[in-house]
Amino acid sequence: GAFARPSGGSLPFDPIAPVNRLVDEFTVPAGYTWRPIIRWGDPLFSNAPVFDINAQSPAAQAVQFGYNCDYLDIVADPSGKTGVLVSNHEYVNPEIMFAPTSDPAELQRRGDIYKAAQGMSVVEITRKHTGEPWSYVVDGKRNRRLTVETVFELTGPAAGSDLVKTAADPEGRWVHGTLGNCAGGTTPWGTILSGEENFNGYFAWAADTAAQKRYQASPSTSTSTGWDKYDPRFDAHNADYVNEPNRFGYIVEIDPQDPTSTPRKHTAMGRFKHEGANVIVAEDGRVVAYMGDDERNDYLYKFVSKNKISGSRKKNLELLSEGDLFVAKFSGNSPAGEITGTGALPADGKFDGGGEWKALTQNGESVVPGFTTEEVLVYTRLAADAVGATKMDRPEDVEPSPKTGKVYLALTNNSARSVATLNEANPVTGNRYGHVVELTETAGQAGTTFGWSILLLCGDPAVFANSYFAGFPKELVSPISCPDNVAFDSAGNLWISTDGAPSTIGYNDGLFLVPLEGAERGHVQQFLSVPREAETCGPVIHDEEGLVFVAVQHPGEGGTFAAPTSLFPDYGSSAAGAVATAPRPSVVQVYRG
Ligand code: FEO
Ligand code: CA
Ligand code: CA
Ligand code: CA
Repeated sequence: GAFARPSGGSLPFDPIAPVNRLVDEFTVPAGYTWRPIIRWGDPLFSNAPVFDINAQSPAAQAVQFGYNCDYLDIVADPSGKTGVLVSNHEYVNPEIMFAPTSDPAELQRRGDIYKAAQGMSVVEITRKHTGEPWSYVVDGKRNRRLTVETVFELTGPAAGSDLVKTAADPEGRWVHGTLGNCAGGTTPWGTILSGEENFNGYFAWAADTAAQKRYQASPSTSTSTGWDKYDPRFDAHNADYVNEPNRFGYIVEIDPQDPTSTPRKHTAMGRFKHEGANVIVAEDGRVVAYMGDDERNDYLYKFVSKNKISGSRKKNLELLSEGDLFVAKFSGNSPAGEITGTGALPADGKFDGGGEWKALTQNGESVVPGFTTEEVLVYTRLAADAVGATKMDRPEDVEPSPKTGKVYLALTNNSARSVATLNEANPVTGNRYGHVVELTETAGQAGTTFGWSILLLCGDPAVFANSYFAGFPKELVSPISCPDNVAFDSAGNLWISTDGAPSTIGYNDGLFLVPLEGAERGHVQQFLSVPREAETCGPVIHDEEGLVFVAVQHPGEGGTFAAPTSLFPDYGSSAAGAVATAPRPSVVQVYRG
């Protein structure tokens, strides 16, 4: 198509053309090149073997970079020549890591590899000169793997409650592992937040109480990792561990500067399928975290700390342990009859309106009738149901602009959006391509009222005529579908990465620039495209250095060990440590050259 050159920012590029979903290539704009910083299996420590896909072991994987990298940040030290890379490892793809087996001993051994391949990684990075691409450091002092066996401390009002006690942890304070780590955020005090998203899939569940059903719709007797078969805490039918699932579904906080620190799970921020959390400092110094619950017809939340940010890093590390939790109720300003489900704009020309943050806790205690504080924080979805929150189209990443304080909410899609549940904030039946909401706090960042409008109704304008790009001429935009992660560059432009384009618009997923101000507002332009069957995650935009970073998650997910559909990023190389026959989730940097 005809693309105009982008304006503003310090990362000039000509948008790439969308890439067909069968193409197994990583595609960048003219004048740019790419290379991985670190790949699944790369050793973090010199005691780790060089990766060999045919010689995987639990001990090796625990000291190698994990699988399915999702959240990503690149945090430079003041020198600009050293720093840390932090990434989540959301889940594993057993069918492309291994050939099939039915041998129980081998399945258990693989289960232990999966435990070590999930979680998070902290890896030191280095470069000779600022502005150059980075390399990772084997044996870096801050290198660390967090896995499904790492001990996390529960904080906040639900820590120690009966709802989170198990036979192995009668105190209800110490949880082994983190699960389903999806997106995240970096706090103003330099820690990393990570959302425990699809934790429910790691348990066999009775799912026989309302509280369980709200997180796991139907009973299950097995898991894809097989953990429930040999580790009793993953069998929630077991009376000793019926509460084990209540110990997952939180925002976790880790300190990437201190590899000996105990990572924490913050119950004050609620329990749901957390996509991630992004923090901004309010006018009065309290901190506000925005959070999505990634499920069809679930909710948008915000957390407001009790205490104010200070010069004491030690005190700041406690900010997310105490505060109040709110859930969003949206209202539209157009007549309901004008919200037709097709995406056609109402008569006032906008999907927009106002909204209210409904309190679930105040002064740290439940304000939801019939719920104790512990119940609000552990069965948060039930509490949010009770206050009439608005059912959204799968809230993914939610991030406040550091320039304006406006909040950008990626709603990835929702096949279950019905005519009966249409509302102006979720105005498309069966929402196939997703949308992005721009939310403006109207009573301060920590306040309880907001305004909102739909910035983008995603899709391929050639196919979905009612796609909408903040009024920008749609024949000039890159097709975009299923927004997932968002980020900002130094000029305040929004960047969006996607998860779901192949099955909805036929193109590989990618990363897109969206200016928010002036004549270019809404001008979606594609910067990169990931290989076949991968999702684009993490995006980190260091535009002033001409660097862009993404996590390439689940490349070749449609293939098998015997018949891979992607060979990213090694593409058959026979170099030491490369894999010729299988895809590897990797963190990639894009730079000029
Ligand atoms: Fe793990 Fe919500 O994507
Ligand atoms: Ca309207
Ligand atoms: Ca995600
Ligand atoms: Ca997603």
